[in-house]
Amino acid sequence: MHNNPLGRLDASEDLRGRLLPFCRLEPEQIWQDPQGRHRVGCIDAADERAVARLMAGDRATLAIHDPPYNLVAFEERTPTEYVAWCKRWVDTSIATLTDDASFYVWLGADQRDGFQPLPDFMIMMRSTALRARSFITLRNQRGYGTQKNWMAVRQELLYYVKGDPLFLVDAEYTDIPKSVRGYYKAIGGKRTENGERGRSDTIRAGNVWIDVQQVFYRMEENVSGCFAQKPLKAIDRIVRASSQKGDLVSDFFAHAGTTLLACEIAQRRCITAEIDPIFCEIAIRRLEHYRKTGKTGWQNGNAFEIPSG
Ligand SMILES: C[S@@+](CC[C@H](N)C(=O)[O-])C[C@H]1O[C@@H](n2cnc3c(N)ncnc32)[C@H](O)[C@@H]1O
Repeated sequence: MHNNPLGRLDASEDLRGRLLPFCRLEPEQIWQDPQGRHRVGCIDAADERAVARLMAGDRATLAIHDPPYNLVAFEERTPTEYVAWCKRWVDTSIATLTDDASFYVWLGADQRDGFQPLPDFMIMMRSTALRARSFITLRNQRGYGTQKNWMAVRQELLYYVKGDPLFLVDAEYTDIPKSVRGYYKAIGGKRTENGERGRSDTIRAGNVWIDVQQVFYRMEENVSGCFAQKPLKAIDRIVRASSQKGDLVSDFFAHAGTTLLACEIAQRRCITAEIDPIFCEIAIRRLEHYRKTGKTGWQNGNAFEIPSG
């Protein structure tokens, strides 16, 4: 296997210094997709004016946000400061949604620190114009922890709505066959078994997703250097459940550009923000790489390497 990974980009100033000259966006700049579908802005998600400039009057029917979690790896703030910061970008995002829109946010709970910031964030969300709709858990295959505690394998995804957006239930079906039979119910006088009644032979993902593989260096979609990359399958599920072809999707924390790529694949438009010019560049390169090669990432290579051959 090709072996040319980047180290964690948050951990090496030297690496960052060497990559920055190859990044086309400087802070405040916006990349316009030459094919006219997407936009990437090197901006602060909490800067209302910068977001308005990036959105340029367009409104999204779906927002998928994955902010830094206030855990290790990011600059840590008190939960109160963190949630006040979240309120700023959440309000900014809500203002750029259509009247009937979906809003998803990934957020962690630190079990070593009172489970912050998840519950604080949930309470703050009650004061916004959004209504809570679902609380989803994605189960990782690998976890962390000691022999003295339950292994930590969960990632949390909150789903809120504004108005009455569509929900395309077909996107919820997994590849997992239904294995439990024997729930009988009379329909029109006829005794039916649950297998007959269902829309599909496979189970719905529900609000506990057990069928999504965590990204690691052997997978094609891996983007080395991106330590917080979400699986394409999870983002694709959200995109297909809560938007239609041609719809606009926003994501204020691009990182590896997973939402951008999922939108390209599912024929949605995407406007995404990212404060770090290196991650902006990686997100743009990932889209370009996909358009050129059909590949979703670099596996164990990297976004800045010179392609061989
Ligand atoms: C958890 S990662 C997002 C991962 C992304 N969903 C993916 O699949 O690759 C959070 C990203 O937010 C960026 N970020 C942090 N603060 C920001 C801010 N104020 N505005 C915009 N982006 C920010 C970080 O640089 C990081 O790349």
